[in-house]
Amino acid sequence: MIDIQKITKTYRSETKELLVLKEATASIKPGTFAAICGPSGCGKSTLLLVLGGLLHPDTGRVMIDGEDLFALSSERRALRRAQLLGFVFQRFHLIPYLTVEENIEAAAIALRGSTDQVRAKELMDQLNITDRRTHVPGKLSVGEQQRTALARALYNRPRVLLADEPTGNLDPENAEIVLNAFSDFANAGGTVIMVTHHPEAAEQADTQWWIKNKTLVKG
Ligand SMILES: Nc1ncnc2c1ncn2[C@@H]1O[C@H](COP(=O)(O)OP(=O)(O)O)[C@@H](O)[C@H]1O
Ligand SMILES: [Mg+2]
Repeated sequence: MIDIQKITKTYRSETKELLVLKEATASIKPGTFAAICGPSGCGKSTLLLVLGGLLHPDTGRVMIDGEDLFALSSERRALRRAQLLGFVFQRFHLIPYLTVEENIEAAAIALRGSTDQVRAKELMDQLNITDRRTHVPGKLSVGEQQRTALARALYNRPRVLLADEPTGNLDPENAEIVLNAFSDFANAGGTVIMVTHHPEAAEQADTQWWIKNKTLVKG
C-alpha cells in the first residue's frame, strides 16, 4: 500500500517561491495500475520524485507498506528505493556507454553487486529487445530505449513501479507494449504509478487521479 499523506512542496530560489503541491493525499492499493494526470507544469514529475524518495517534500509523508520513506536516513532510503521501487524516467537515463544488457543489469549491481543473466534474458525476451542486447542506447530506436529502461526498472522485482510520461515519446505500438507491461505488473500484485498528460494512456490504468489546484483528486 502506498499512502501519500498531505504532501506539500515548494521550490525556492533567492527571489522566488513556487508552491507546486499542497497537501496532496492519496492511497494506492497493491495490484493497482494508477495514473496521475494533469497538464504540463502541474507538478506530476515533482510528485513522482517525492514518491520515489528522490525529492524531500516540505511537509507530509510517503508511506510504503507502512514505512515512512522520509523518516529513514538517506543511506537507508537509497537501499529501500533499490529494493522496493523501479523508476522509469521520462528521458530514460540509460548509460550511454553500456549495452542494453549491461544497462538492465546495472540495476542489480547497484543493489547487490552481482548480476542475474537469466533474469536479464527473461526481461529482454518479454520486451522484445533480445536481438538488441549488445547495442548501446545511441544505436536504438526510442521505443527500444524505453523498453530497455523498463526492463532495468523491473529487474530487481520491485513492488512499485513509478513512471514519468512513459508513453510521451512513443509511437502507438510501443506505447501499447509499455502500458500492457504495466497492466501485467499490477495483475501480478505490484503497484504502478504512472504520471501522464495523455488521457489515452491514463484510460488504460485501473484508477485515475488528477492534480487539480495543487492537490490530488480522484477521477
Ligand atoms: N527544480 C525546480 N526548481 C524550480 N522550479 C521547478 C523545479 N522543477 C520544477 N519546477 C517548476 O514546478 C512546476 C511543476 O513542475 P513539474 O513537476 O515538472 O510539472 P509536470 O511534470 O506536471 O510538467 C513547474 O512550474 C516547473 O517549472
Ligand atoms: Mg513532468
